[in-house]
Amino acid sequence: MATAVRARKISVETPDVEGVRPPLKWAGGKRWQVEHVVGYWKQNNNRRLVEPFCGGLAVTLGLMPQRALLNDINAHVINFYSWLKRGLVITLPMSNNESKFYAARKRFNALLGAGQADTAQAASLFYYMNRTGYNGLCRFNASGGFNVPFGRYAKINYRRDFLEYKSVFADWDFTNTHFDQISLAADDFVYADPPYDVEFTAYSKGGFSWDEQERTAKWLAKHTGPVILSNQATKRIKELYGDLGYKLTLLNAPRRISCTGDRTPAQEVLAIRNL
Ligand SMILES: C[S@@+](CC[C@H](N)C(=O)[O-])C[C@H]1O[C@@H](n2cnc3c(N)ncnc32)[C@H](O)[C@@H]1O
Repeated sequence: MATAVRARKISVETPDVEGVRPPLKWAGGKRWQVEHVVGYWKQNNNRRLVEPFCGGLAVTLGLMPQRALLNDINAHVINFYSWLKRGLVITLPMSNNESKFYAARKRFNALLGAGQADTAQAASLFYYMNRTGYNGLCRFNASGGFNVPFGRYAKINYRRDFLEYKSVFADWDFTNTHFDQISLAADDFVYADPPYDVEFTAYSKGGFSWDEQERTAKWLAKHTGPVILSNQATKRIKELYGDLGYKLTLLNAPRRISCTGDRTPAQEVLAIRNL
């Protein structure tokens, strides 16, 4: 039987938003955007919410839809969520220790090599490495092995019991595919947060090409239900979304320190249609 879940405030920055905390750290997490999206969602919260690039689930867990389709091309994050849906309690030892971290990484990569990437053990190791590894990164070498180094945090709070998510996820479907394989129902509410466009580089971060940015924008421009598409507000992204008839809202993202030490807030765009 599903466990009752008490929703709690997700952060001081989003005082009007009820939600459940994202279980992972995720690069490009958009928890800060929930307050900008929730007003649109509240008028449409009988719809299915679709996140084609769900990553750390920050937005969906902030909006708490009844029904959702959540997709990511990263098989490990989707495996982790599918085990939370079944009711995951982690039993393996977890500690903030360098040699234990590297032993866990080796064990995880051995499971991948043995075709056991979809097991509860792989999901548990994935969580442990997400908390303990450098910046919560999820990165693989050319032969597919997880290669994020130890994170050197002063203190880590590990969670073992994820039963809270079992009932939250009960009517949410998780898929692991390229976004262009997703079939939308005509009235779906889509929140799409693809990897950032990085202008002036041949290869975008996360291997997401300009062609894929264009395909995402064109695909969602054809959707008849509400769409919110989020991205870094580069010149070419604003032109692409504007030319396709999206209504653009510019936002200042929370400050991130870049590798040059520059603390200028990045500008992001919400491209909105049918809302
Ligand atoms: C910016 S992150 C999403 C973050 C998420 N909104 C959050 O708040 O945590 C982009 C996600 O897109 C996923 N992704 C990259 N290429 C993809 C593709 N072709 N199809 C589906 N997902 C993809 C990445 O694995 C990553 O998790």
